Amino acid sequence: MAEDTTTIRTTAPKRNYFARKSVDDILAESDRQEGGRLHRALGPVSLTALGIGGIIGAGIFVLTGTVAAKFAGPGVVISFALSGVACAFVALCYAELSSLIPVSGSAYTYTYATLGELFAWIIGWDLVLEYGLGAATVAVGWSGYFNRVLHGFGVDLPSQWTTAFFSDPNHAGSGHGLFNIPAALVILGLTALLARGTRESSLFNNIIVLVKVTVVLIVIVFGVSHVDIANWTPFVPENAGEFGHYGWSGVLRGASVVFFSYIGFDAVSTAAQEARLPQRDVPIGIIASLAICTVLFIGVAAVATGVIPYAKLNVPDPIAVAMDATGIGWIAWAVKLGALAGLTTVILALLFGQTRVFYAMAHDGLLPPIFARLHATWRTPAISQTVVGVLVALAAGLFPIEILDEMVSIGTLSAFALVCGAVIHLRRSSPDLHRPFRAPGIPWVPIVGILSCFALMAALPIETWIRLFVWMGAGLLFYFFYGSRHAKHG
Ligand code: ALA
Repeated sequence: MAEDTTTIRTTAPKRNYFARKSVDDILAESDRQEGGRLHRALGPVSLTALGIGGIIGAGIFVLTGTVAAKFAGPGVVISFALSGVACAFVALCYAELSSLIPVSGSAYTYTYATLGELFAWIIGWDLVLEYGLGAATVAVGWSGYFNRVLHGFGVDLPSQWTTAFFSDPNHAGSGHGLFNIPAALVILGLTALLARGTRESSLFNNIIVLVKVTVVLIVIVFGVSHVDIANWTPFVPENAGEFGHYGWSGVLRGASVVFFSYIGFDAVSTAAQEARLPQRDVPIGIIASLAICTVLFIGVAAVATGVIPYAKLNVPDPIAVAMDATGIGWIAWAVKLGALAGLTTVILALLFGQTRVFYAMAHDGLLPPIFARLHATWRTPAISQTVVGVLVALAAGLFPIEILDEMVSIGTLSAFALVCGAVIHLRRSSPDLHRPFRAPGIPWVPIVGILSCFALMAALPIETWIRLFVWMGAGLLFYFFYGSRHAKHG
């Protein structure tokens, strides 16, 4: 009888949707794949620079204006502070996991090791929103600054070719759009570079980071003396009768939207294999980059809303417009050029990150093997990069920044909540693992992290939630019809 049962079990094994990859397996696999080749050159300063390079982008250069004008007024400063605090809790969790599992692959890999296959799939699918749609969002911001630079040279592209098809025609100045060509072209151009294997070097990244931080500091230092306190009064404009339209609910909705600005600190964790002392320096890089950017963002938001009335900031290049108002002509130019250079590297990092997550998922059998195929001479996932590039270019051409940004925020927030959950789970299931960096206040720090993510998600419009459900539903269908049948670890 007992023998029979064994036979039945062996011939028809039950599918384990929560199969986990062990931390040891992940480390060994990563050593085989890349460890021998990657040069461990990054110290705490370069890692922090990497984080800042990923963080400062369309969020601060574009969304500050959108949020101030539409949701929070000068209260956008409080939105930035709230969002920064939420990210701090998540960053501590990221820091613990990245010190424990110092390999590339980000939240997807951590989740596979902790919550198992199904959750790993969910997070991988979520990360498409963070990386893929994130790249599209930044490209739309890039297009806005690019058009303003062209305008400075007396060239104006036809507005239907610089405006998204799905943009709101009532939005100030946007009119009816067909396709945002500059946004799509920048994605395709950078895709070509990435497919050929051109990856920004650490030195190049550090230079661009220096440019970005300098531009941001110029805005704060030169702008502060042009602040007119009257523009900050009232600091939180009275609610206009519906949730999220000014008032404190507007500040909260603003926090969910500007959350996008902070995305990127998690990129530090993807460089773990290139860090000299990953266990010590990756947590430093994550936390330091987040702290520095929070201070810079609050400064820029305060100056921008103090220099001109917040209602005038609903433009594609709000920081440049605010600096124009100071009358110091060269600053607006510095902002435009600095933003263009800075946004370019953020797009590169996000497009790069997307294909590396797909690579890891395809390697585990959750996606078709084509996403793990490397080009024979370039040694890059060129096919995957091209597929991603074309889809992201379409998204960037068709959708306006508000829709893209809110999808990125809700997707990333749900992924971040899972990362916090993974920390609690792993502390319970494997309390003895060596944790070079331990998040303080367990379980409260991750619990507050999860609650903050949910609070920010709750402040997003219902349409964004519906889009998230549709996206996750499509992902689960794909998982049950493909991923779970081809997974290598179940
Ligand atoms: N945080 C990045 C940006 O704002 C994604 O562009």
